[in-house]
Parts: sequence; structure tokens; C-alpha cells
Amino acid sequence: MVSRSEDEYYVTVDHPMNKDHYISFLAAISDREIQLVKLYPEGGAEAGFKRNRVQKICACCNKHGLFQIRPTRQSISFGPDDKQ
Ligand SMILES: [Fe+2]
Repeated sequence: MVSRSEDEYYVTVDHPMNKDHYISFLAAISDREIQLVKLYPEGGAEAGFKRNRVQKICACCNKHGLFQIRPTRQSISFGPDDKQ
């Protein structure tokens, strides 16, 4: 799930976070930078990112690899014209 505030996207992933199977990082990608938040087993699968032209948000599972987080609410979309 992605929620948006004035300056930030807050991402929550519904995924196991145990020692064998967890999200190892979340990343928000723009045409200028990658914001990366390292996550750890037994922790929360969530992170906040500056909106800063974010075009894509991805999660990396230690077992299943990289996948894209898509906004579930139509009112939220990513794009190069996002808040700069
Ligand atoms: Fe997984």
C-alpha cells in the first residue's frame, strides 16, 4: 500500500518478515536518484520516501527477488512530474 502526504510516499508491503523470508530493501526510483531503505527480518516492511520525482517504487524479497509496488488508490500515481 502506498499513501501520499505533502512531501512523502509511505509504503507498506504485506509480506512475511521472518528470518527465512523477508523484504531486504525498498527503493524509490526517479530519473535523478534512488532512495533505498534497508529492511531487516522481524522488522516492519514499510518505509517513507521523499516524493522528489519518484517514478517507481520497488521491493526486494530475499527469496523471490525484485518486484514493483504499484499504487492501489487511483488518486496516487507516480511520474516524472511529481513534486520536485
Ligand atoms: Fe517473497
